[in-house]
Amino acid sequence: MIKMIRNYQVVIFLFTIISIAASAVPKTEEGKRVLDHDFQQHLGEEHSKQYDHEQFLGEDQAKTFDQLAPEESRRRLGIIVDKIDTNKDGFVDLSELKAWIQFTQRRYIEDDVERQWRSHNPDNNDTIHWDVYRKNVYGFMEEMDPADLEREDNGFSYKAMLTRDRRRWSVADRDGDDSLVREEFTSFLHPEESEFMRDLVVSETVEDIDKDNDGKISVEEYIGDMYRVTDDDTEEPEWVKHERETFKTFRDKDHDGFLNNEEVKEWIIPHDFDHAEAESKHLIYEADADSDEKLTKEEILSKYDVFVGSQATDFGEALVRHDEF
Ligand SMILES: *[C@@H]1O[C@H](CO)[C@@H](O)[C@H](O)[C@H]1NC(C)=O
Repeated sequence: MIKMIRNYQVVIFLFTIISIAASAVPKTEEGKRVLDHDFQQHLGEEHSKQYDHEQFLGEDQAKTFDQLAPEESRRRLGIIVDKIDTNKDGFVDLSELKAWIQFTQRRYIEDDVERQWRSHNPDNNDTIHWDVYRKNVYGFMEEMDPADLEREDNGFSYKAMLTRDRRRWSVADRDGDDSLVREEFTSFLHPEESEFMRDLVVSETVEDIDKDNDGKISVEEYIGDMYRVTDDDTEEPEWVKHERETFKTFRDKDHDGFLNNEEVKEWIIPHDFDHAEAESKHLIYEADADSDEKLTKEEILSKYDVFVGSQATDFGEALVRHDEF
């Protein structure tokens, strides 16, 4: 089960990259208004907020803040703002915010790798062997009914996850000894961070979206991945129609009606897109009341829900405690 959750997180993370990357093209044409518009289009307002919180705080901290009462959330945000303002001029500017986002993302990855490294390697050996990892994560499969192993839930089955992990392990295993040193293990857990894992990230994404398994993504598969028709929808929303256009004009570069791996790569990992910068611009745009392109602590605190999550109850504080605060 743990594995199931981790895989879902990877998928959600990829979906987030996809969605954010999708805003790269229009942004350069019309500036940040479109970026903001695009964020909402692709993620929906709720998801967009969750994404902002994770970028600003890191995934773990974002969850912590989600439990806090508004006053406590604001108080902690104030402490964070002082940390971000590294030159202490009373403003958070683009470069400070960008450095902070890069720091929180790095910290999240390091913490995650540390946690999983320890859990799979209690003896603190130099490497983790595939057999050890497989037994820890998929050992329960040996006792399962074969039919249950193949049963799909939202397009995922244990068997498919094992196959995917096996392949990813082999690509991360640079020296081919079937054991991963910590650096290789980092590439395995967070393939989007390693240059040499990028083609695999693209393949995994194509496989997720390519429902008819023909190795390429049709416009219906592309739309189906972002939008599911619900009973309330009488007509396709504007943003979905816009996405169809985007597929035709931007994504499908050779206009053959499908996205191949190259086209998917340019979509999800565009080579000229800096997501920490895009996210920083987005956050500044959201909170910059006087439009001077930098934020005071007051501007940030008055928009605290953009930066950090919170519940409108006050039981949260009792649940969560953290050294930093
Ligand atoms: C760590 O290495 C020792 C010695 O090679 C081995 O016996 C042990 O099983 C390893 N631990 C794990 C968790 O793989």
